[in-house]
Amino acid sequence: MDTAYLKIDSMSPDPEVIARAGRILKEGGLVAFPTETVYGLGGDAFNASSSRRIYEAKGRPSDNPLIVHICRFDDINRIASNVPEAARTLADAFWPGPLTMILPKDSALPSETTGGLDTVAVRFPSHPVAAALIDAAGGFVAAPSANRSGRPSTTSGAHCLEDLDGRIDMILDAGEVGIGLESTIVDLTTPVPEILRPGYVTKEMLRKVLGEVETDRGLAEGSDVRPRAPGMKYRHYAPRGVLTVVEGDPGKVTSYINARLDEARAAGKRCGVICTDETAGAYRADVVESTGARADEESAAHSLFRILRDFDTRNVEVIYAEAFPEDGLGGAIMNRLLKAAGHNIVYPGKI
Ligand code: TXA
Ligand code: MG
Repeated sequence: MDTAYLKIDSMSPDPEVIARAGRILKEGGLVAFPTETVYGLGGDAFNASSSRRIYEAKGRPSDNPLIVHICRFDDINRIASNVPEAARTLADAFWPGPLTMILPKDSALPSETTGGLDTVAVRFPSHPVAAALIDAAGGFVAAPSANRSGRPSTTSGAHCLEDLDGRIDMILDAGEVGIGLESTIVDLTTPVPEILRPGYVTKEMLRKVLGEVETDRGLAEGSDVRPRAPGMKYRHYAPRGVLTVVEGDPGKVTSYINARLDEARAAGKRCGVICTDETAGAYRADVVESTGARADEESAAHSLFRILRDFDTRNVEVIYAEAFPEDGLGGAIMNRLLKAAGHNIVYPGKI
């Protein structure tokens, strides 16, 4: 299949290009498009065969449900059988934006789209291209992140091309996304709302508007409970090199990583480090990638997936990453980094 690759302005998308992409979706085809979090791989949410094609193009297990994207709050009633007050409260505070809500599914929505579950994940993105495309497609676009299953999510059109060229009908390239990490997922079908995937909208922000909010116990490091979002149980985002996260006192972290780098280089391995500006000059690695100033969590969120992909392009075989503080957006960053590392974390100097 030939994949059409079209540049599109992120603030004022060309209506003709949007109409063409919308037609593809209505006819059962697949289009990768930008959102404010990461790129999505869209298909018509009400077309079961589109959803099957999404799983196939990504190489994703079909028990891992898709998020349904809407562009008007009221459309939520077409896909959810019950919309609790909490959903309205959250929508007022955070939609359109980087938040996904889990609600009971309406029977009209094909079970292929929700991976056989009786709940549905709903998101109302704020990116102008996403909003225009969803509208042009008829209002309901099922879209996982636009990466091959297991790889880091895509944060630019070029990443989508890398993973999906020849496998989908069209890629809309609006440049780099703003946030760089996928949306926060909150389950509203539980007695107390529960975060199933941390993201840009933090627990503190959710608590301000909802009161009580918990985090899925399956997300805690070392937990033996299964995460409740099916996608959180898979190994994900992994670069091809072996990645280790190092947590602790900054001086100890730097000297620990340098000692391991020296060993790896002596063994003829190509080495990389993920760190921040404060320590970037201290490492003896082939590739040193800084996420920006240590205090700048937004910059770390924005660059993490790109950095993981860069290591693959540059054939890095051994990677060490400094850990991030877990408050605020740091929690979402560490969640992705630990998944990329297969939960391989060390604490130098800690007994
Ligand atoms: O920011 C985002 O959310 C991006 C953009 C494209 O919108 N989308 C995204 O989709 O990250 P995906 O498919 O890569 O991740 C969706 C996650 C998966 O972990 C999936 O298991 C979970 O949401 N999920 C979807 N429906 C669910 C449901 N009904 N119950 C629990 N988890 C669900
Ligand atoms: Mg994904």
